[in-house]
Amino acid sequence: MLTDDGPALIDGPVDLVTADGTILHCDRFVVALCLCRRSGSYPLCDTSHRRRRPPRSD
Ligand code: FES
Repeated sequence: MLTDDGPALIDGPVDLVTADGTILHCDRFVVALCLCRRSGSYPLCDTSHRRRRPPRSD
């Protein structure tokens, strides 16, 4: 499931393979994948998407 302004929620448990080949094993029944790229735990969501974004300058 994709959320409007937050993570993608997928059924777990799941093994995620990152771009550098690292395998992350997630045991949770629902795993939140970061789509905003602001997570300190990327590719997992750490709720950083909830913080207010600075206004765009363009
Ligand atoms: S979607 Fe939650 S921190 Fe990026």
